[in-house]
Amino acid sequence: MSKQHWKGSVLLAPVPPTLVTCGTMEHPNIITIAWTGVLATHPPMTYISVRSTRYSYPILMEHREFVINLPTSAMMQAVDFCGVRSGKDVNKFASCHLTPEPAQTVQAPLIAECPINLECKVSSTKEMGTHVIFEAEITGVNTDERFIDSKGKLNLQQCGLMAYAHGEYFALGRKLGNFGDSVRKKKKKTHAPKKKQT
Ligand SMILES: Cc1cc2nc3c(=O)[nH]c(=O)nc-3n(C[C@H](O)[C@H](O)[C@H](O)COP(=O)(O)O)c2cc1C
Repeated sequence: MSKQHWKGSVLLAPVPPTLVTCGTMEHPNIITIAWTGVLATHPPMTYISVRSTRYSYPILMEHREFVINLPTSAMMQAVDFCGVRSGKDVNKFASCHLTPEPAQTVQAPLIAECPINLECKVSSTKEMGTHVIFEAEITGVNTDERFIDSKGKLNLQQCGLMAYAHGEYFALGRKLGNFGDSVRKKKKKTHAPKKKQT
C-alpha cells in the first residue's frame, strides 16, 4: 500500500462535535468543541481543549464548570453555528432555538434538545500550545428517557448522534457489532435431525 508521509497534524477522526455550555442560567453561552475525550473511567474524567481567544474561555476559567451536550444529527446547523459565531456578539440559545435547563451539579445550563448532557467540574487546567486543556470530573449525567428501555438500558444508537471528521459532519450509521464480539464464543449450531428418506 503506497502512502504519503505528511508532517504531524491533528488528523484524528472521527471525533464528537459537542455543544459545551458554560456560564450560568442567567448568562449562558454555547461553544462547539470537538477536541474532547475521556481521560479515566473511575473517577469519570474528561477534558475539553479551548483556545484562550474564545469568548467562552474566561467564563470557563471563572466558573470552572461546564456541560458537554451531545447533539443529534438533526442539530447539525446549531453545532456549526455555535462553532462559527461568538457569544460575544449573539445569544446562541436564542439564535439556534435551543432551550437552557438547570443542571443538578453545576451552574452551567444543559441543552434540553441534546439527548445526553455530561455535567463537569474542572479539576485542573494546562496550557498546551494553541489551546488550554480543562480537565474535569463528570459529576452527573442526564439521559433522555425516550432512549432508556424497560430494563433500564440506554440505547445510545437510537439517539442519532453525529460525528466530525476532517471538517465534515456525519450522522452515525450502521451498527457493526458489540464490545467483545471478536473473542466471544460462537453458539454451536444445532442441526435438526435429518428426516428419514422414504
Ligand atoms: C466542529 C467544530 C469544532 C470546534 N472545536 C473547537 C475546539 O475543540 N476548541 C476550540 O477552542 N474551538 C473549537 N471550535 C471553534 C469554536 O467553537 C468557535 O471559535 C466559537 O465561535 C467560539 O465561541 P465563543 O466565542 O462564544 O466562545 C470548533 C468549531 C467547530 C465548527
